[in-house]
Amino acid sequence: MDDKNKSTVIDFITAKEAILKELSALESVSTGEISLPEIYPEKNEVKVEFQANSLASEQIVECLQIIKNHIENIRVHTFEPGFYIFQALNENVFDSKSILDNIKFRFIAYSNQNKVEISKKGDFKRDEIFVIIALFKYITGSNSKKNANPKELLSRLGVTVFDPAKEALSGNILTFDHIAGYNNVKQEILESIVMPILSPNTFDEVSKLTRKFPSRNRPRAILFEGDPGVGKTTMAKVVACLCKIPMVYVPIESILSKYYGESSQNLAYVFDAAALFPSALIFLDEIDSLAGSREEGIVEATRKLLSVLLRKLDGFEGKPRTLTLGATNRKQDLDKALLSRFDKSIYFPLPDMRERAAILENYAFHLNEEHRITISSLLEGYSGRNMKDFCDFVERKWASAIIERGVDATPPPFEIYQEAAEVIRKNK
Ligand SMILES: Nc1ncnc2c1ncn2[C@@H]1O[C@H](COP(=O)(O)OP(=O)(O)O)[C@@H](O)[C@H]1O
Ligand SMILES: [Mg+2]
Repeated sequence: MDDKNKSTVIDFITAKEAILKELSALESVSTGEISLPEIYPEKNEVKVEFQANSLASEQIVECLQIIKNHIENIRVHTFEPGFYIFQALNENVFDSKSILDNIKFRFIAYSNQNKVEISKKGDFKRDEIFVIIALFKYITGSNSKKNANPKELLSRLGVTVFDPAKEALSGNILTFDHIAGYNNVKQEILESIVMPILSPNTFDEVSKLTRKFPSRNRPRAILFEGDPGVGKTTMAKVVACLCKIPMVYVPIESILSKYYGESSQNLAYVFDAAALFPSALIFLDEIDSLAGSREEGIVEATRKLLSVLLRKLDGFEGKPRTLTLGATNRKQDLDKALLSRFDKSIYFPLPDMRERAAILENYAFHLNEEHRITISSLLEGYSGRNMKDFCDFVERKWASAIIERGVDATPPPFEIYQEAAEVIRKNK
């Protein structure tokens, strides 16, 4: 990769504006509770300074993590308790003259005040601006984070929580029956996901009786793999319902595109926020978007997102009733290191003829077995989603006809399905 293009340099005025604009939008800043950082040039350096209520060592460690999400090579200096410097090394480590010119983060805890000082010779790069913003947000917001409601925190990041308890209130509980067929897949899911979450102790007891050295037999992360529309996302919701635990839905694609500069930081927060649930399923949907893009800025963002993901997958094993699920249409394109973090991959094939007929039972239960088989044999290669869309289409056509004729509602007759399926087969 061309190192020079990796991160763009931004002039002082633009950088200052960008930082202040982003931070002014924070609630705590707009209400005056917290003041904006000071940003000023000094000699040949640019400086950013802000106050911190507290700078405990856990916070410093977290800050290092935040910096490392954006910047790779960091040197840490500690001079005395309460005074740390994290210094980014220049990309060109052989150029020893300028090796110390890169960005420096000073965390200073005086007896009467704490502050963070960030300085750099020359202009900031885009990545560095993101770090500054992330650090400010973390340092100034960290006190309220402890008792934060994870759902609220996540929704601010554009991540939704599918909560079976809430779905139950509106009668929307999903079961294995919502996915017709797929008996082998369901069996694998029961054994490797649902049971270990519902009864972790039994799994642990078994492993205690078999292993010379303690190790766990329960999976931490499982991959759903298969063509689009075969029911992977729906199955993740089914799992949440069966285990009665919330599912944190993380569409990687949208996290990447919406905030591509900040996406790795956001992903780290998603895992941290999810860890606040007593137990949860983290569902990383369409993780192949991490493999896809060739676009300049996105490649960089992708690489960082990946490195955060790898680290978080490694770290996210503390809780017995927590599991990460990933879904992908393109397993072959996934990064090897990422693939290796998944303990198991469950393959969702396209439904065969019998299975398509079973799916029709969910979406056209008024048809008889023989009719369902006739139609499903016309729809070779169709996924579950295609089958559902097909039924939607037939029903809409039929309902419109009913309205036109002004008659009472009846289900569409077999012939209408057959006709539509024949047309589809001819046009293939
Ligand atoms: N085997 C199946 N039985 C019933 N409905 C299915 C089946 N497979 C897929 N569907 C339906 O198709 C739609 C798309 O499924 P989805 O879970 O989004 O697939 P994926 O995530 O694999 O792309 C959903 O409405 C789902 O209920
Ligand atoms: Mg999906």
